[in-house]
Amino acid sequence: MRLKSFICKCGLFVIAIISCFSFYSAGNVSYSEERKIDAFFLDLDKKYRIPEHWGILPFELEDPYKRIKNGPPLTNVINKANVEWISRWIANPKKVVPNAKMPNLGLDFEEIKAVIVYLGSILEKEVPQISWDSNLLKKEDDLSDEEYDRVDKLFNEGKGVWGRARCTICHPIKGVGGNVGVGPDLGEITTKINRNWLYSWLGNTKSHFPDTMMAQFRFSDNDVRALIEFVMRDTQFMPEEVEEEEEEGEAKEEKQPEAEVKVLAEKEFSSIRKDTALIEKGKNVVERARCFVCHDIKGTTELMPVIEQKRDSLAGFEKLLYEIRCLTCHRIQNKGGTYAPNLTIAGSKIKMDWEREFLKAPDIIRPLSQQMPKFNLTDDDAKVAVEYLEKHLVTKEPMSNPFESGAPSAEMIAVGEKLFYEKGCNTCHAEGEKGGGVVGPNLSTVGDRLQPQYILYHLKNPQQANPQVVEPNFGLSDEELKSLVGFLADHAKKKEGNQ
Ligand code: HEC
Ligand code: HEC
Ligand code: HEC
Ligand code: HEC
Repeated sequence: MRLKSFICKCGLFVIAIISCFSFYSAGNVSYSEERKIDAFFLDLDKKYRIPEHWGILPFELEDPYKRIKNGPPLTNVINKANVEWISRWIANPKKVVPNAKMPNLGLDFEEIKAVIVYLGSILEKEVPQISWDSNLLKKEDDLSDEEYDRVDKLFNEGKGVWGRARCTICHPIKGVGGNVGVGPDLGEITTKINRNWLYSWLGNTKSHFPDTMMAQFRFSDNDVRALIEFVMRDTQFMPEEVEEEEEEGEAKEEKQPEAEVKVLAEKEFSSIRKDTALIEKGKNVVERARCFVCHDIKGTTELMPVIEQKRDSLAGFEKLLYEIRCLTCHRIQNKGGTYAPNLTIAGSKIKMDWEREFLKAPDIIRPLSQQMPKFNLTDDDAKVAVEYLEKHLVTKEPMSNPFESGAPSAEMIAVGEKLFYEKGCNTCHAEGEKGGGVVGPNLSTVGDRLQPQYILYHLKNPQQANPQVVEPNFGLSDEELKSLVGFLADHAKKKEGNQ
């Protein structure tokens, strides 16, 4: 099968393939076995294949996964993270965050101290000081009842924002969550992050880190403030209390008799941060330890520069893709992540009236596994996205609509319904009042969401659009297909309202 489509796709290589066949037969390959294509030819196929299934896009897509340095920039890190935290981190990243990607570079305390002083010397900007309600800066125990109520209200609002934003799609908390696979664990973030920095980060991630993979939400000022209260006060973001485990830990680490890791205190840092000899030493350590291979660090970047992406002139959908970082989760053509549905032919798949509303306030379609966060996109954002999807993210050859010449008849819909239950579609899907499985999307309004031609395309071969989908290929006949599509296309909200 693959071989056949391979031949169709690149006629130019037919000759090469024929010689490949003769090579195979000479090589004693049994024809009853499935023949494998030489990886070399697959590479060629990839390289020269004319994009049949998709068009040429008006701009080159930026793949957030292809950034040059895998660590965040360190030029302004002193604004972001607490000095004590940085000190512990450099000494042994995995001890701070078990799934840290950064290696332990084996620096001693004096070296770490110098590195931090160097990092303090290259700060490019101050983090804007936000004016906080004074009671927000107090510890919980010091709040009066009335203050407590105010903080509690904001905290609960923040909890709501956190939930709708689905931050845990990307960020694990103490090892749980983070299905997209890109964000750092936030389980002890209260020991790290500066409150003022967090305010600017949530408002505009790109101001600290232009290449970040984090999605940018369109939060209001109040959303951000509420979210910060939640993140700074909820115990899930604080280190677990380890009192009881202490003894056990000691027993385990007998080999290294609890050598207290020395930590640079904020106070000591303030007293030495202008020390030019230390700054110079720190720079040397950074160069020697090759921090710049993974981090953009002012003063050493020349050793391995980051190629500046030109982004001042972004507009339309290109700007939206970059700002929201849609491609951290979605894939278009061969760029981006695989967590969320592939959007390469979304314009041939989805009904745009539905899409416009979905982008502004996503429904839950796939309840078990994946949900799209609410980014608070504006009407204009949604319009830009929908226009682009419709124009560019479509199959090259339009799919044929089985109901071009008229809506499905009531009989056909009834046949389709019968088939739906006979074939056991309901083991994975619910389609209405009767209930059903939740492995696949709920189909009760699928007629509003998907174009009938796409439902047909999907049912002909569910793996065509998404090779990982667990839906079996039922090998449905043309008649069966048409009835099922008719039945599903009829599932629209306006109809439900009537019932
Ligand atoms: C092999 C790549 C690599 C090298 C070399 C490296 N780091 Fe990192 N560093 C990372 C990654 C990746 C992260 C992001 C957190 C993680 O590990 O998941 C990180 C995070 C950090 C952070 C936290 C930054 C933030 O914004 O949260 C600091 C500080 C840091 N590194 C300092 C250093 C210093 C100083 C050196 C050199 C002594 C260094 N790193 C060398 C990969 C590296
Ligand atoms: C699309 C995935 C994604 C989503 C959604 C997301 N983040 Fe992030 N976030 C990241 C990535 C990735 C980073 C690290 C920066 C980088 O490497 O680009 C990050 C960094 C952070 C940091 C800094 C943490 C550190 O230790 O350096 C905080 C705080 C944060 N995110 C909070 C949030 C909050 C709150 C939400 C929900 C409103 C959220 N994030 C939603 C991907 C995401
Ligand atoms: C944090 C990850 C994430 C980001 C970032 C993200 N999405 Fe999504 N998106 C999803 C998930 C997950 C779904 C599937 C939702 C469901 O089925 O309930 C989805 C669904 C969709 C769908 C419907 C696709 C289908 O085939 O059903 C479209 C269209 C879409 N997103 C467009 C966008 C656009 C445009 C952006 C950027 C403005 C974006 N998304 C950013 C996670 C994300
Ligand atoms: C074993 C479980 C399973 C069975 C049985 C099954 N499906 Fe699905 N179906 C899925 C999953 C999972 C998806 C979601 C695919 C994705 O996320 O891209 C899906 C997607 C769909 C979609 C929407 C495609 C989209 O991307 O939104 C339709 C329509 C659909 N199935 C119809 C049917 C019909 C009709 C039957 C019976 C003939 C059926 N399914 C049987 C699991 C199943």
